[in-house]
Amino acid sequence: MKLHKNAASGKKDMRRIAFINEKGGSCKTTLAVNVAAYIAGTNKRVLLVDMDPQGQVGKCLGFYVREMSPTIYEMLLDPELGVASVIRPSHIDGLDVIVSNKTLSDFPVEVATHPDRERKLAQKLEAVSDYDYIIYDSPPSMGLINTNIMLATEEIVVPVSLTYLALDGCAEIVETVDRIRDKFGKRKLEIILVVPTLYRPTKLADEIVRRLKSHFPGRTSKVVIGYNVKIDEAQSHGKSIFEYAAWSRGAHMLESLAKEIMKRAD
Ligand SMILES: Nc1ncnc2c1ncn2[C@@H]1O[C@H](COP(=O)(O)OP(=O)(O)O)[C@@H](O)[C@H]1O
Ligand SMILES: [Mg+2]
Repeated sequence: MKLHKNAASGKKDMRRIAFINEKGGSCKTTLAVNVAAYIAGTNKRVLLVDMDPQGQVGKCLGFYVREMSPTIYEMLLDPELGVASVIRPSHIDGLDVIVSNKTLSDFPVEVATHPDRERKLAQKLEAVSDYDYIIYDSPPSMGLINTNIMLATEEIVVPVSLTYLALDGCAEIVETVDRIRDKFGKRKLEIILVVPTLYRPTKLADEIVRRLKSHFPGRTSKVVIGYNVKIDEAQSHGKSIFEYAAWSRGAHMLESLAKEIMKRAD
């Protein structure tokens, strides 16, 4: 267990990846935590940043986030608080986290009048360079928190639970990304992957996967994440699927996804 300090090493190949979908229950947190854990296991340094007031990243890693301080909220609000004071080592070697809890829900109101309110996260994380990956988990709503994430990331992964209404959500995310690119002149912001999740073999699910592939050719993940109860159980034990049930189908699916994401460098 080792905390990776922010050395000013000027690492240029650091990837920033956000798991975003305004729909709750689309598996953002599950994928963010397990992909981060898998990548950390490949001898890479990963910083996992929870931007959801539900604080479930911390919970999935066995932290009791409710009474933790400082969290991401204090980091975003307190100009004196450096990012190094908020980064914590997780029990997984190579994986550090910035946890969140429900205090973050006050963030949009607290910064409503700040001219740089959309860039708070990006500004704070400018000081971070000693990682190979920064991975963000996001809340189930589009608003100021998600704008902050989009301005602090370059790559977006969209998990899509295979229900009829999920397709609407995808169209909204594409629009939001386009709007952020235009409004803030952010050239490097791409949806790199759309990931079908909670698959069960039904006609409807197959039809939605087919439609995703035609909307996002070359960007729909090869792996479809099926329902596997071990994934849920791992979270209840505060562990990654690779620690809890490395042999399970859930672990194999999440490993495939992590590998697809790692391969996408450029
Ligand atoms: N492949 C899976 N099989 C079974 N349950 C899953 C799977 N992926 C996620 N879950 C469960 O589905 C629920 C929603 O997932 P979560 O990652 O919290 O979604 P989000 O962060 O988008 O709201 C959680 O209870 C999680 O344990
Ligand atoms: Mg979540």
